[in-house]
This record gives sequence, structure tokens and C-alpha cells, in this order.
Amino acid sequence: MKITTKINVITTAWLLLILIAINSIVFLSFMTITFNLVQNEVQQKSSDIIKVMKKNDEQGSLNDKLLPYLASHGFLRIIDDQGHVQTQVSNDQYLLKKIDPEFLRKEKTTKRIIRPHGGEEQIIIYQHPISNSGKVTGTLEIAERVPGLELGKDVLLGILSFCTLLGAVLSLLGGKWLSNIIIRPISNIIGSMEEIEQSGVPKKIVIQRETKDELNKLAVTFNRMIDRLDVTLEQQKQFISDASHELKTPLTVIKSYADLLRRRGIQNVDMTLEAIESIHSEATRIQKMTERFLDLAKTEVDEDLDFKLIPLTEFCQRIIQQLEVAYSRKLKFHTENNKIAVLADELKLKQVIIIIVDNALKYSKEQVEIFVEENERHVIIRVVDYGIGIPADDIDSIFERFYRVDKARSRETGGMGLGLPIAKNIMKQHHGEIKLRSKEGQGTEVALLLPKESKAT
Ligand SMILES: Nc1ncnc2c1ncn2[C@@H]1O[C@H](COP(=O)(O)OP(=O)(O)OP(=O)(O)O)[C@@H](O)[C@H]1O
Ligand SMILES: [Mg+2]
Repeated sequence: MKITTKINVITTAWLLLILIAINSIVFLSFMTITFNLVQNEVQQKSSDIIKVMKKNDEQGSLNDKLLPYLASHGFLRIIDDQGHVQTQVSNDQYLLKKIDPEFLRKEKTTKRIIRPHGGEEQIIIYQHPISNSGKVTGTLEIAERVPGLELGKDVLLGILSFCTLLGAVLSLLGGKWLSNIIIRPISNIIGSMEEIEQSGVPKKIVIQRETKDELNKLAVTFNRMIDRLDVTLEQQKQFISDASHELKTPLTVIKSYADLLRRRGIQNVDMTLEAIESIHSEATRIQKMTERFLDLAKTEVDEDLDFKLIPLTEFCQRIIQQLEVAYSRKLKFHTENNKIAVLADELKLKQVIIIIVDNALKYSKEQVEIFVEENERHVIIRVVDYGIGIPADDIDSIFERFYRVDKARSRETGGMGLGLPIAKNIMKQHHGEIKLRSKEGQGTEVALLLPKESKAT
């Protein structure tokens, strides 16, 4: 069942239930109130008749006094202490025959209600004692059919049923209209999703009106997600294009040397050696490049890191030792506090430090220094070199993938422009930061800031 139909059916059923309950209460209250009114009227009438009888004893006949109080269907009669009807006025022979006269001995009014046909029609019989000097001398008997209740009941029932039906129909229509309003944004989202599924192209939802409700929020969030997806797709496309471009040069070199060998053979030893050397060096470059691609891909997703408390002095000194051997260069280590430790993924942190120190060594022939420090919120690993530095215009782009200041020079140094983006991603995974300051010709300083309360992702 469609959600709109579901909402419609449920709300209508619920409203119908409420209407039936309310209408039943209205109907029952109406019946009770009407009946009570008639009862009170009869009671009042009996007291009035008694008063009139006492006041104007000698004026007019008793019949004349009773007549004004006669209801449209009923009788009034006075019964003497022998149980005989002394006088009576009536316009309902049936009632006269049906109800036998009765003398009440006690000074107490009585009230009876009978249903002559067992149906809805009711007859009120009211008996009031007539006393004289403290002695009961007769009974005033009033009988009345409760007028109009049958008709009133039917009319009321009709009106209430009509209103209930009207309410249900209006609720159905209103529900349809309302659920359409509610469902429209959801249908839009479903439509967009289906289009995306078919075309494979992210598409935003058109938001007609800016409302502050949850559905608008849903649409806005959906559009934000599409924006992000767009950016990611664009980045992916860019990456593929950059990566293919980067791979093209070494592959062209390899291919041309392979062609040369094929055409000229291996007779010319010098040329053959040169070709093999170049093929080897370019193949190594491709190998390194693919490793870098994989590293970058790994750091771009929110991977689960293996957080451990790392004592930084020993950790950095170990890395420094390895790098000194690998690069045959000396590195200087400084720290004011040997106890500084940080929560981090050991392998990833080592990778960042190597990327930064590798740059410092590659782009400086001078001394490279590594500092381990801390401030209130961060543990900081600072790598300082006094090398060629980075021109001010390039600093903003330095963390972009494949960005190299001097492409020709980078080729000599084997750089691919992927080190810093990888380092930035790793720092992000650690909820940390990477800051770079540089002056062309003077040197570069890279600071890795790790939060002291590093939270595992
Ligand atoms: N310490 C530094 N001194 C001078 N230039 C630097 C320094 N660090 C980075 N750069 C500049 O920033 C560019 C990008 O650095 P990045 O580490 O991302 O790439 P790369 O070193 O060229 O290649 P690789 O992917 O092998 O690290 C470098 O090509 C270089 O021009
Ligand atoms: Mg680098």
C-alpha cells in the first residue's frame, strides 16, 4: 500500500472513530436532557396546579382550572380518597384507559415511567397528594406522553450520521491533499534517486519553497550529499586524468627504449645498457608511483586506525636512524621533554614523518632538524630545513595532488607531488593538522599537530 493511502486510511478511520464516539455522547446527552426537561416540567406543573387549586377555591370549575395545564397528549385527573375519579381533563383516551386511577395515602409525590409498546415512546405518570389541614384528601394525577422525542431522536440521529459521513469524506479528501504535500518532497527524492540509478549521474532535487520542516531538511541534506558526491566524482576524474598523465611519461620512455632495442637489436652494447638502465629507472618510478596511489587511496577513506600511545622521543629517534642510513645524511633531533607521548596509529604516523623528512632532505642540502614539542592542546612534531624553500605563490597549492613547484626538478628528485596530500589525509584521520611555512631560498618548516586527547576514529 502506498504511504499516502496508508496515511489517508489511518487518519480517516481514526477520525471516524472519534466522530462516532463524540456523536454517541451528544445523542445520549440529548436524549437524557430532553427527558429530564419534560420530567421537570410535569413536576413543576403539578406544584402549580396544587397552588392554583388552593388559592382560587371558589372561582370556576375544577375542570377549567386543570385545562390550561393539559399537555397535547395526556390527562390530568383528581382522585378522591375513595379512589374514584373526582374530575378529569384528557385528550388521550388511550392513556385514560391504560392507567388506572390510584389514591395516594402518603404525603409523597411519586413518578412512574412506562413504555406502553416497549419501544422508544415513554409515558410519565406523576402523582401528587392533595392535602387539607394536614390530611391527605385526594391525589392529583398527571400523565403525559413525552412529546417529540421520537422525532427529535430521529432528526438528531440523521444529522449526526450525516455529519459523521461528511467528516469522513472531508478527512479523506483533506488527508489526500495533506499526504500529497508531505509526500511530494519524498517522491522528488525517490525520483532523483531513480534517475541517478539509471543515469549514474548525481542530480539535485529542485526545492520549490524554503520551509523549515524536516522534509525540507531531508531535501537539503540530500542535495548536500549530491554536492559532495559531485566533488568526489570530480576529484576522482581529476585523479584518474592526473595519474594517467603522470604514468604517460615513464611509459613513453620505456616504450621508446623498447622500440629502439627491437629495431636496433642488442649489438650496440652502450645503447643497450642505456636502454635497460632507463627502462629500469622508469619502471621503478612507475612502481613507486602506484605505491603512492595506493597510499593516497587508503588515506582518503575513513579507515579504522590502530591507535596506540606512542612515546615520541624513541619513536622519532628510531625513524631518524633509519632515514640517516637510507639517505646517508645527518639529522638533528631536539626535544625539551623526553616523556611526550601521543595516541596515534604507529605506521601512519611514521609514514607522515617520513614524507616530511623526505621532502626536507630532498629539497635542502643543509641541515635538517626535527623537534618534538607540546603546547596546551597539541603534541607537535616540527621538521625544519634550510633549503630552497617554496615560492609564496605555490604555498596554497602545495597540498593538491600531483602539485610540484618545479616539475623538471621534481622529476630529478623523483617527486610525484603526492607526499603532502597523503600527509594531510593522515593528519585528518588523526583529527590533527599539518602546517607549512616556507620562504623561498631560506627554508621550510612543517609542523604536525596531534591533539593531546586524540580520539580514535
Ligand atoms: N621542504 C620542502 N622544501 C622545498 N619544497 C618543498 C618542500 N616540501 C615540499 N616541497 C614542494 O612541494 C611539492 C609537493 O611535495 P610532495 O611531497 O607532495 O611531492 P613530491 O615531494 O614532489 O613527491 P612525492 O610524492 O614523492 O612526495 C614538491 O614537489 C616541492 O616542490
Ligand atoms: Mg615529497
